Amino acid sequence: MFAVPENTVTRAENPLLRHPVRTALEFAADRERWRNLLRYDPDERYAALLERDAGQEVWLLSWLPGQHTGLHDHGESTGAFTVVSGQLTETVTRRAPDGRVLTELHTPATGQSRVFGPGYVHEVRNEGPDPAISVHVYRSGGRTLRGYHLDPLTGPVPS
Ligand SMILES: [Fe+2]
Repeated sequence: MFAVPENTVTRAENPLLRHPVRTALEFAADRERWRNLLRYDPDERYAALLERDAGQEVWLLSWLPGQHTGLHDHGESTGAFTVVSGQLTETVTRRAPDGRVLTELHTPATGQSRVFGPGYVHEVRNEGPDPAISVHVYRSGGRTLRGYHLDPLTGPVPS
């Protein structure tokens, strides 16, 4: 036997100090955890809560071809999403400091992630021919969705 000095004992990791992409990737890889929660709803993308605690929510989303979020932000939440399978397209819209309305298109491949935070207005869409799956992590406000519409002159406007 030997004595372990108290100051050498590692504290349990605080999951909120882990980058949200890392959390999303860990959940995405753990199919046993969510495969029974997969549903495809013909009316809209399907969302299943995987985990909720005081600091974060983790959701599984399943998308049929053509299903989309509409333009939205997540209030004060920050987080990330990871594409598990299928082809999701993210359109990010913002007004630049010089007043121009900018729209960026991102097509994260399977296993790739996107991050978001307050003021980040985007739309996610399954434009592929097959169903898609993604894992989403939301912190500091949960899965808040606030709708926007796009004014071509002034940029995204809350609906
Ligand atoms: Fe979103």
